[in-house]
Amino acid sequence: MGETRKGERPMTVQRLELDHITCRYGETQVLSDISLTVKPGEFVSILGPSGSGKSTLFKLLTGARRPEAGSMRFDSHTLDRAIRPFAFMPQRDALMPWRRIIDNTTLGLEVQGVRRAEARRRVLPLFSEFGLDGFEQHYPAELSGGMRQRAALLRTVVQDKPMLLLDEPFGALDALTRASMQRWLEEMWSQHDWTAMLVTHDVREAVYLSDRIYIFSPRPARVVREITVDLPRPRILDGSARARAAEIEADILDTLFNAPNDATMTNLEEPR
Ligand SMILES: Nc1ncnc2c1ncn2[C@@H]1O[C@H](COP(=O)(O)OP(=O)(O)O)[C@@H](O)[C@H]1O
Ligand SMILES: [Mg+2]
Repeated sequence: MGETRKGERPMTVQRLELDHITCRYGETQVLSDISLTVKPGEFVSILGPSGSGKSTLFKLLTGARRPEAGSMRFDSHTLDRAIRPFAFMPQRDALMPWRRIIDNTTLGLEVQGVRRAEARRRVLPLFSEFGLDGFEQHYPAELSGGMRQRAALLRTVVQDKPMLLLDEPFGALDALTRASMQRWLEEMWSQHDWTAMLVTHDVREAVYLSDRIYIFSPRPARVVREITVDLPRPRILDGSARARAAEIEADILDTLFNAPNDATMTNLEEPR
């Protein structure tokens, strides 16, 4: 341990490593033998149908649930209650309606014990980059859906944790707003040195944003495929890059549609 094998670059060190993770709710098996990795600075997506177990995976990472089997390591240390390396953006935007935007964006820091004045000092310079200039004193209900998501994302990234967990951050937005938010996030991604894991059921979103994608089967989720997205960054998809993106999307859709035919899968339907 600790020794780098010959020819190995530091980038091959894993930031996050999940090994053979299994999770169930009572009788219901949700995650089945999930193994995956995320390298420092990598953007990895989990793509899977609704109800497959994607949010459950984040519950395991954030410590809200424990896996029945398997191991989770972060920077080579076993993940436990003492190690909380994630800034987590939950599936719903979760802004508190009675707090002004400025006070919503400082919330994550305040929970960590940072004093409000200091938290504001850290958050305010980022307002223009997040397209929220002038809305510091507004309430969430006074913002568009896209702005609310940017505020939620600002609250997440300002916590300055080693890794971001984003659970369907744009799922509630209309298609146009979602597309512009994806573009914005990809630009931000190019400018910052973030490590991120995104959960989504949107194939195009996964392809546009990710370095790698893990495709989950329907519940109980297992990894049916891992895809490296070989598109240039920044992701200005013109000409051949656009054609390549469409090709990857079609390939992923094939995998998703064919996954239920696998003989090992039993729970294809959501329970009524
Ligand atoms: N607290 C819970 N108790 C029992 N079943 C749950 C609970 N939370 C989620 N489930 C079930 O586990 C499965 C996976 O849920 P989830 O991880 O939220 O899926 P996804 O995020 O991929 O849509 C679903 O079938 C869901 O009904
Ligand atoms: Mg979910």
